[in-house]
Formats: sequence, C-alpha cells, structure tokens
Amino acid sequence: MADITDLGFETLCIHGGHVAESNRAHLTPIYATSTYTFDTAEQAIDIFKGEEKGYVYGRFGNPTINEAEDRIAMLEAFGIKGADGKPLQLKAILHSSGMAAITTMLLSNVKAGDKIIANRSLYGGMQELVDKILPGLGIQSIIADFHNVQQVEDAIKADGAIKMMYIETPANPTLQCVDMAILSALGKKYGLIVCADNTFATPYLQQPFKYDVDFVMHSTTKFLNGHGTAVGGIVIGRDLEKMNGIVTKTHRLLGGNSNAFEAYLLTNGLRTFSLRMDRHCANAEKVAAYLAGNNSVAHVNYLGLESHPDHAIAKKQMKHPGAMLSFELKGGFDAGVQFINKLRMCISAVSLGTCDTLVSHPASTTHVGVPRERRIEYGITDGLIRMSVGIETVEDIIADLQQAIGNK
Ligand SMILES: Cc1ncc(COP(=O)(O)O)c(C=O)c1O
Repeated sequence: MADITDLGFETLCIHGGHVAESNRAHLTPIYATSTYTFDTAEQAIDIFKGEEKGYVYGRFGNPTINEAEDRIAMLEAFGIKGADGKPLQLKAILHSSGMAAITTMLLSNVKAGDKIIANRSLYGGMQELVDKILPGLGIQSIIADFHNVQQVEDAIKADGAIKMMYIETPANPTLQCVDMAILSALGKKYGLIVCADNTFATPYLQQPFKYDVDFVMHSTTKFLNGHGTAVGGIVIGRDLEKMNGIVTKTHRLLGGNSNAFEAYLLTNGLRTFSLRMDRHCANAEKVAAYLAGNNSVAHVNYLGLESHPDHAIAKKQMKHPGAMLSFELKGGFDAGVQFINKLRMCISAVSLGTCDTLVSHPASTTHVGVPRERRIEYGITDGLIRMSVGIETVEDIIADLQQAIGNK
C-alpha cells in the first residue's frame, strides 16, 4: 500500500488502520478475548515495561478496537500538517460512549479548582455533566455566548482558574455554529486547553485540528457508525505524550473502554462513511428547501440556508452545511405531537446520523422535564422538530414530511 500520506480520504475510510491478520482474514476479526498470553515471563516483563509492543488486557486495548481508533485518527488528521511541517500525527482512544470519551478527556485535563468555559448551546448530556457532576468534583463551568468573542475574552481575563475552552459546533437543536479559528486562537492566547465536540459535523465536513485545538471528541454512535448499531465515543489528541500518558491512564482506570463487537460495527460502518455523508448532505439540502417553502413551517434552522444566522461561519469552516436541521411548526406543541404521530417512514427516535431519517420533537421527549422558559431560552420552542436527514430516496422523505405536516 502507498504511504499513508498519499492516500485519499475515501481510501482511508476503508483501509485506514488495517493491520494484516495472522490467519489472513480479509477484515479484522472481532477479537472476543478479555486477556492476552505471554510466551515467556521475560516477554511479559518487556511488554509491561513498554519495551515490546503487545496487548495485555481487554480494558487496555484490543486489535479490533485499535483499527477503529487509528482509522478515525487518520480521518481527523487528513491533509493537516503539524508545526514541524510534517503530516499531523494524532492518537485516538475509543470508548464505550461519547459521554465516556468526554469524561476521560475532562478528568485527564482539569482538577478541583479549575474552571471550564463553554458555549451556551451544549449537548444535553454535557450540560448535565457540567451542572450536576463536575461541581461535586470542584470543577465549575462558565457558560458564555461564544458568538460574542469579546465577552469570552473578558471572562477568561477575569478568571485565572479557567483552564479549558469547550467548543461544540454545530450544536443542538438550532444548529448554532461558532467560529473555531477565532475561539481556538483566543484560548491559545491565554494558555487554555481547547477541545471540540465534532459529532454533528464529522471529519468529513470539518476538521477542528486545522485550528490547533488540543482534543476532538465524537459520539461515534452517530454518523461515524452510521447504521445505529452501536453506542461508542472517541477522544483524539495531538499531544502524543499526553495521550499516551495521562489520557491513556485515565481511560484505563475509569474503565469506559469499548468492546470488540461494537468496534467492529464501527469500522464496518466507516467503510461507507464518505459515500453516506455525500448522500446525507445532498438530501438535507433538498429537505431544507422543501420545508422553507412550506407555509405551515414558521422557520427552518439549516446552515445551508442564508436565513440561518451562522450561515457564514458554517461556510467558512465546513465543507458542506451537513445533514442536521430543525424546523418550527406554526401550530406549536400540539402540531409537533400530531406531526410525529402521522409519520409513516421517517423514524421517531432520538439520536442522529443513521441511514434512516430520524425525527424528534424535543418539547415532548428529551426536554419534557425542562421548564418551558428555560427550554425556550435554549431555542427549544414548542413546535420545534429536529431531523437527522437519512440517505433514503429524497422524494420519499419529502412525501412523508408532506403528509405528516398536512399541507403542500
Ligand atoms: C454532540 C454530542 N456529543 C456527545 C454525545 C454523547 O454521545 P453518546 O450518546 O454516544 O454517549 C451526543 C449524543 O447525542 C451528542 O449529540
């Protein structure tokens, strides 16, 4: 095979991270083993000392898991040069979920007394972690409006305890997008660790390492797996010493490791990643255009529409506006519930990034317990519908929406 740096993105989706297997299996098998053997006591000593490469124990590593890790690291690094002018080298660690990956990244970088600065619009699980778990560990968070860079800089200048900047772009459910180049440069100016959740965009559409961020996290449950067959998460870092040191240690000790079966499903899904993304994106553009012209829809949040307030930022840092959108039904809460009940093909489910179109009504599901005022403050209005546009025949998606909305 050619040198890895000469290979295209689509090739890496298929071959990246693959290591020939001793039984000549075409695909890396599902290594269903909890531990590994040593030929001699001396070999065990060498492996434990790190003088010989080798697997030791399932929580620490597994060949099936390794393939997924190396492949995703290659996709995030694709075409990027490091400070030395050479192709960027990244290390990735696969976890049992996106939340497990985020937790490892946080706990290996911040300690009691440190603070995190994060954007207003965070994935619900991260928001709860910040509100309910981290304060108990002595880690407070400052939530700022990342569109207002001066406000972010003032907050950082005013509080020397801020050690980390946490970026999530685009974000749920209004597809708010923030400028990674500006924010990362600001974070670096003040010596912060900068990290980015790249779940919605994926490395196909956006590469945060271009902007010098230190860590990228994903819920691999979503577009990377692509088929809704496994929950998983990954943390990827550019400081290899840190990744092989404290981050690996934290991952092993917290025990949020992935498993061979789900890693296999992920690498299998990745083989068609770029093809799927092209279709997801093309379909989303057509669905957004349809919804924007429907008179029962008050507005559509899609980064490809000029009406989206962050259209220009998305254009600057994303290859395509992506496959996620949301829209507001004029009839409010009841219209949202009725719409979901009428769907015939699109699936009513939370999550995103699967081949099939997933639709949810946050006000009656994920956010039913959030006080209305707070929910609306975060853009989750009564009639808001979130869509992860799938790769079905686009006319079928639109026809289903049309009959469920009930006009045009
Ligand atoms: C942006 C984002 N980050 C992280 C997560 C958490 O991932 P997981 O559910 O795999 O733990 C999600 C889940 O929906 C998400 O949407």
